[in-house]
Amino acid sequence: MTTRLQGRTAVVVGGGQTPGAAMGNGRAAALTYARAGARVLVVDRDEKSAEETVLLVREIGGTATAHRADITIEEDCAALAQTALEIFGQIDVLHNNVGIVASGRTEDLSSANWRRGFEVNLTGMWMTCKYVLPHMRARGRGAIVNISSMAGLLAGGETIAYTTSKSAVHAMTRSLALEYAPHGVRVNAVAPGMMDTPMGVDSVARSTGARRDDVAAQRASLVPMGHQGTGQDVADAALFLASDESAFITGVVLPVDGGFTLKTGTH
Ligand SMILES: NC(=O)c1ccc[n+]([C@@H]2O[C@H](COP(=O)([O-])OP(=O)(O)OC[C@H]3O[C@@H](n4cnc5c(N)ncnc54)[C@H](O)[C@@H]3O)[C@@H](O)[C@H]2O)c1
Repeated sequence: MTTRLQGRTAVVVGGGQTPGAAMGNGRAAALTYARAGARVLVVDRDEKSAEETVLLVREIGGTATAHRADITIEEDCAALAQTALEIFGQIDVLHNNVGIVASGRTEDLSSANWRRGFEVNLTGMWMTCKYVLPHMRARGRGAIVNISSMAGLLAGGETIAYTTSKSAVHAMTRSLALEYAPHGVRVNAVAPGMMDTPMGVDSVARSTGARRDDVAAQRASLVPMGHQGTGQDVADAALFLASDESAFITGVVLPVDGGFTLKTGTH
């Protein structure tokens, strides 16, 4: 346990995880904030998965509560902010982890899947900010950490909906950062690369029928550092952006990608 977030509260949206062999970015963030002393509201559409995260937080001596919400439903976004305030009395950190991959090239991608990608990755994230920001502005403090993707720094035909929605997350992060800087609220993003997570590896193995180890090795081979990152790598970067150690940093998109985007000169 550390004290970097002692006395603080964190709302981790998407704090459950896709089933798989490793720990996801959202669950790792909830545990990391709790280990740093924060009380955590673990929000997820999948309540059982949020409750599993809560149990893991309690196992390390932390404090957490599960809350079910679908961030594509505006009432749920309002309710998650209200619930956090009722339970904790304050929200210091909003961590937006929810994201889905809507894949397919333009001519194969249905308009419904394109819209779904934007609804979940962008509009839902914006709506959680919308309902937490009035509280942070009134207090004159707060940190928002949006989990994006290195895909938002790249171009990719097969993932056009994902890359475009994640680029928009970067634009939204910078716009909110500028708007709320005078109010003491910082807004930053983390852009993970090839991560050894259920979303990154197990779901690809399941959908393609490939062996998990083969998917993992192929992804690792693309990374300049020679291996994939972990959910913990993303959580550690998020903790920095959520804590006072980054008190003068706002509007940045921090790649956590082992050098992947250096190859493309996109950051
Ligand atoms: N895992 C990776 O390899 C990787 C790489 C780059 C970026 N990212 C980004 O990291 C984030 C997720 O990473 P993860 O490893 O935690 O994934 P994950 O799939 O394990 O966790 C995401 C959680 O979000 C929840 N969720 C999905 N839709 C929701 C909705 N509408 N409302 C509420 N909850 C919802 C899911 O139930 C799940 O528990 C995403 O933003 C993703 O784009 C991941």
